[in-house]
Amino acid sequence: IPVAPFVLTVFGATGDLSRRKLLPALFHRDIDGQIPDDAVIIGVSRRPLSDEEFRNFARQALVDHVAESDLEGGALERFLGRLSYIAADADADPGWPELAHRVSGLPGHIPVYYLATAPHLFGPICERLGKFGLADHGRVVIEKPIGKDLESALKLNEQVGKIFPEDQVYRIDHYLGKETVQNLMALRFANALFEPLWNNAHIDHVQITVAEALGVEDRAGYYDTAGAMRDMVQNHMLQLLCLVAMEPPSSLEADAVRDEKLKVLRALKPIDDHNMASVTVRGQYRAGASAGGAVPGYLEELGSERSETETFVAVKAEVENWRWAGVPFYLRTGKRLASRVSEIVVGFRPVPHSVFGDAVGAIVPNRLVIRLQPDEGVKLWLMIKDPGPGGIRLTHVPLDMSFAKAFKVRNPDAYERLLLDVVRGNQTLFMRRDEVEAAWRWVDPILSAWRGAKDPPRPYTAGTWGPSAAIALIERDGRTWLEDGA
Ligand code: BG6
Repeated sequence: IPVAPFVLTVFGATGDLSRRKLLPALFHRDIDGQIPDDAVIIGVSRRPLSDEEFRNFARQALVDHVAESDLEGGALERFLGRLSYIAADADADPGWPELAHRVSGLPGHIPVYYLATAPHLFGPICERLGKFGLADHGRVVIEKPIGKDLESALKLNEQVGKIFPEDQVYRIDHYLGKETVQNLMALRFANALFEPLWNNAHIDHVQITVAEALGVEDRAGYYDTAGAMRDMVQNHMLQLLCLVAMEPPSSLEADAVRDEKLKVLRALKPIDDHNMASVTVRGQYRAGASAGGAVPGYLEELGSERSETETFVAVKAEVENWRWAGVPFYLRTGKRLASRVSEIVVGFRPVPHSVFGDAVGAIVPNRLVIRLQPDEGVKLWLMIKDPGPGGIRLTHVPLDMSFAKAFKVRNPDAYERLLLDVVRGNQTLFMRRDEVEAAWRWVDPILSAWRGAKDPPRPYTAGTWGPSAAIALIERDGRTWLEDGA
């Protein structure tokens, strides 16, 4: 779908998100010919920079984050030519009249405001966008953390909502922009095969793992105020759960999809003081080894002797409705785990009766494994006969579809898709206000139960799969975590 001319203002343009994600994503779309010739990108931050200095900043960001071959042939200079810069502060007026002047000087362009800033600035920036007449017909993009609990999320949504109606607000969860996450919808709703089985009569349980090998790196300051529950579960993990569990929407129209996701969030069985200990595990990494080298523990990275922030969470979640009653959704995520892997495993029920009698090899229940990253792909594990004479031997093999092998194209970054969806006015892959709030409604009592419990997160050694209690959590139910597409 062609993209209309736009004027994109990036607040926090010299920050980390802009450097690592936004500028490279815009550049990639540009070289793929998807950015209209007259599209304009304005960087805003507090630093006093000239246009030229900002272009140099962007040049470095692209050199650092884009393949060298993509920068050749004038592509880089052409892209940099779209950029200009204005110094402005969220809390003061200077710079804003100039921004208003430049945006209103482009009447046919769709105004988009990307707030790549600390969340406490979302309110003040929206207020000024309103004050300077920039909000009309404009679209605002914000990203997590959207609050740190329900109360702060309500407040933040309120501040943004005072200036921008909901159909102009784009709340990014970058997991929704990942190719394989969107592929979940294709897999479920473009195949007649799965949907009849997609319920508690045929599915035994679901596992969702988002494991990272890295630690908190240079984000310990932010991370220590958040922890894995707020950083990953409240948003990315719950969104994945929603896409697996939701009813088929009637179309891909934004509210059709978001209504279905909301119903899942509202059907999550509450976890609080009463059941927290039996269905959640939180952990914090200690020094260990990762990628063959020694790595420090969380406290050393934080530079503190004490912190109760969890860097690992495992939860047994349940969706209380007809489709999913009795099917546990085991979620786990953490930093400094054994490898970087994100995948969804849908475990089917065992066959009701084995006709193979003394056949060698147990019948392993079928599994559908959707690998989100890295090595994106889909595996359907089936039982077959081991080839050869001498009676039936059963064996477990995957029907294996690797995206890299099947499609020889570069896997676009989530931000490439999402940024253009904003310009296209397509909110399907963005979180609606009530979704974010419903997610906090489920998360808040867990956080409060943890606080009340007074026992600190369980230690785990960096480079392992988390605290042993997380293994016990699933093994108590007679199941095991499945790793690496198994
Ligand atoms: C972010 C979290 O939202 O997602 C980070 O704040 C995390 O802590 C990151 O590392 C993971 O994203 P990805 O795309 O690398 O899986």
